[in-house]
Amino acid sequence: MNPAPLGVFDSGIGGLTVARAVFERLPHESVIYFGDTARVPYGPKSPDTVRRYSGEILAYLLGRGVKALVVACNTISAHALDFLVERSPVPLVGVIEPGARAAVQATRTGNIGVIGTAGTIASGAYERAIKRLRPDVRVCAQACPLFVPFVEEGWFDHPATELVAREYLAPLTRAGVDALVLGCTHYPLLKPLLARVLGPGVTLVDSAEETAKVVAQEIAQRDLAAPAGSRPIHHFVVSDDEQHFRKVGARFLGGRLQHVEVVPLG
Ligand code: DGL
Repeated sequence: MNPAPLGVFDSGIGGLTVARAVFERLPHESVIYFGDTARVPYGPKSPDTVRRYSGEILAYLLGRGVKALVVACNTISAHALDFLVERSPVPLVGVIEPGARAAVQATRTGNIGVIGTAGTIASGAYERAIKRLRPDVRVCAQACPLFVPFVEEGWFDHPATELVAREYLAPLTRAGVDALVLGCTHYPLLKPLLARVLGPGVTLVDSAEETAKVVAQEIAQRDLAAPAGSRPIHHFVVSDDEQHFRKVGARFLGGRLQHVEVVPLG
């Protein structure tokens, strides 16, 4: 038993989709969420910069006494997971491996699609993780950088988003994918639109839900669960612009954000 909070972190607001999945799966666990809103987006940044920024977030959350860490951001997980694991004295879970595992389980044809930020796709991290699990599958990966600003604008079901989605997803449809990994924190909010564009034959794999399952397993295996009946307290920390985080974050979390602090890093 361990009453300390879990740390969940992201380049900004999007990681709240993962925090939400963690809240739902682990309702007794307290969470400190860190979003690097001063330096978002990480998607177009170099691997070195992403490692440096995420190392600073790691140090901050360890200083707050977290018992385990969840790297909610796909771009950080893609560029920096090993770097962070080496530096973390507490268990650390990223989003790539859980998403890859779920995709391998979901496909029947062996054609898997992956969408993500430019950095996530360029890293090849999902493709490697999928092929480690099942070397015979074919992976079709597509960067969808315009989705992040559309989602932050609240355009989950807007004609402009649909137009862009049809363009981005056309190669995946041509490749005959039957499972698509939503490899970015923002994409779960586009699920209805993506399902419509791709049609009923494609299973959408939500890395957020899969990651929350793995976090629950880790907590149980390592005997880190909060004492039974604990009432969780969630803290949200951002590096800039608390107002915007509260406003947009409510859409991601589906509820009010309490206890938002601003802590600049670097
Ligand atoms: N959180 C990022 C991810 O999941 C998306 C936003 C960004 O580019 O920083 O890859």
